[in-house]
Amino acid sequence: MHLPQGPITYKYIEVGKTLYQAVSTRTPRFPPRVAYAMLNSLFEERQEAITVYDPFCGNGVILCTAYLLFSQKIKKLIGSDLHPVVLETARRNFQWMKEQNALEERLRAIQAYKTRDDGLKESYQKRCRSMFNHAQQIHLDVEFFQHDATRICEHLASIDGEVALITDPPYTHNDHWNPKDGLKSADFGPLEPFLQQVAEAPNVATLLICYRVDQPIRTLLETYFVATLLGATKGRTIYRCQPK
Ligand SMILES: C[S@@+](CC[C@H](N)C(=O)[O-])C[C@H]1O[C@@H](n2cnc3c(N)ncnc32)[C@H](O)[C@@H]1O
Repeated sequence: MHLPQGPITYKYIEVGKTLYQAVSTRTPRFPPRVAYAMLNSLFEERQEAITVYDPFCGNGVILCTAYLLFSQKIKKLIGSDLHPVVLETARRNFQWMKEQNALEERLRAIQAYKTRDDGLKESYQKRCRSMFNHAQQIHLDVEFFQHDATRICEHLASIDGEVALITDPPYTHNDHWNPKDGLKSADFGPLEPFLQQVAEAPNVATLLICYRVDQPIRTLLETYFVATLLGATKGRTIYRCQPK
């Protein structure tokens, strides 16, 4: 892939290409274009820095995009997920952007990709080096922990100051959220208890959430928030939810 010379853009950030992807989980690849659109709409409106938290962080695409492209507007980045494997993958994605040894390991992992297209591998490796160099200028705290988002109120209460939640939750009927995990809930899986607790939290300034275009959730969102449809890209609709 040819990328223009110049600053890092969201096009550098790709799960399973430049970023590690969790194996043996059903967490789908998330398009960085959607992460960028969500973060951009937050910071278009907001001047003061804020804590950004993704409680269904998966491989960490939203967090990596926030870190690389919006760090100056963020006080702190927080990511959590219920699944230990994806969480570890998100951590590793930050590690290689910050530590030389971890970068070398990332480059070797790309070299081992099954494709015979050496040009492609080289282009991913080149992008990783650019991301690494760019990340060396960034000094922003990133915290990860394993957490069930259906109990998010417990964690929100411990965050100092206002927080913006930006997230890509599990989708209805998408089997990567498995009721056998012990999370019994209605049609929207862990989404409904999550929304209810977020709506009641006093320190959530805004929730930006994306969902599959073919699964409209506006009515559900409007039960708890003033919801605004911001647009659709890559098969996902993006909503801004604010306290009623
Ligand atoms: C659509 S994926 C998010 C993908 C993510 N945007 C990325 O960059 O990889 C939804 C995530 O929610 C997680 N999840 C499912 N139920 C959860 C729960 N109750 N609490 C926290 N995370 C949960 C899954 O493990 C999965 O990683």
